[in-house]
Amino acid sequence: MHKGSACAVNTAIIAVAAPLKVMNVALSFFLLYPLFLHLSPPVSAKPATFQQDFRVTWSDSHIRLVEGGQSVQLILDQHSGCGFTSKYKYMYGRVSMKIKLITGDSAGTVTAFYMNSDTDSIRDELDFEFLGNRSGQPYTVQTNVYAHGKGNREQRVNLWFDPSAEYHTYTIMWNHQQVVFYVDEVPIRVYKNNEARGIPYPKSQPMGVYSTLWEADDWATRGGLEKIDWNKAPFYANYKDFDIEGCQVPGPTPCASNPNNWWERAAYQKLSPAEAMKYYWVRRNHMIYDYCTDKLRYPISPPECMAGI
Ligand SMILES: *[C@@H]1O[C@H](CO)[C@@H](O)[C@H](O)[C@H]1NC(C)=O
Repeated sequence: MHKGSACAVNTAIIAVAAPLKVMNVALSFFLLYPLFLHLSPPVSAKPATFQQDFRVTWSDSHIRLVEGGQSVQLILDQHSGCGFTSKYKYMYGRVSMKIKLITGDSAGTVTAFYMNSDTDSIRDELDFEFLGNRSGQPYTVQTNVYAHGKGNREQRVNLWFDPSAEYHTYTIMWNHQQVVFYVDEVPIRVYKNNEARGIPYPKSQPMGVYSTLWEADDWATRGGLEKIDWNKAPFYANYKDFDIEGCQVPGPTPCASNPNNWWERAAYQKLSPAEAMKYYWVRRNHMIYDYCTDKLRYPISPPECMAGI
């Protein structure tokens, strides 16, 4: 839809079923599947070659292609979890992927999709963490925002659908004005640029795109009360339709500051009225935790909490 400036990179890992997109399929995982490297290169204005957009960072024996090559499956068992990352980092833009989370009893598991500057003590990070649950109990999405090394901004929303039944789209939109986390078309979290009020904002470090699947039953489900049931292993999370539109780093330097990048346009600088309604609907009906209102942790609400969307 949005094909922005020349430096925007669109990375779609897509359905083999959509023949025109086949070429987009080559994502990097295919390093594991040399066969795919024989596909002819895409006829595309896009500079990216998909074989090079992602790589496995943790346990390639636990990541494989499924669904006829349409999607990537992450596996968690007693031996290991796994993870992958984009080969490049990006400065502003929008990253999305479709994920079908672990079916059945997923208590104690965490599936994450996040962006991270990978710069230790000053890191910027934008997190989606999907916290598993016992069968029939709601999956929880935890989001967090780190700016200049400071995080501790957790919010939690229980999903209003079963995220293991179908693929749903999870999106991080990041521009000079705001960071928005979307579940399908619903904005569940907004972090505005309030630098004018002295609140740090991620704006000077490019971030890579990451995903991991691991065991965290010491905290993930009901605060650690519900343990992982290894009898139910292996656990599977499936991914497809990766899309990265952003300024690749290293890349042409004016890209990130170009106000003509589509994600910088007025329509993306604040939520539309329709989006704001959805946002408030989530907060009213599905939010189960907000650091902003956790008086034990923050007797005085952090300043970004007072600033509105
Ligand atoms: C799991 O289910 C319980 C009971 O319905 C709920 O309180 C909790 O928020 C759910 N999510 C997690 C991650 O514990």
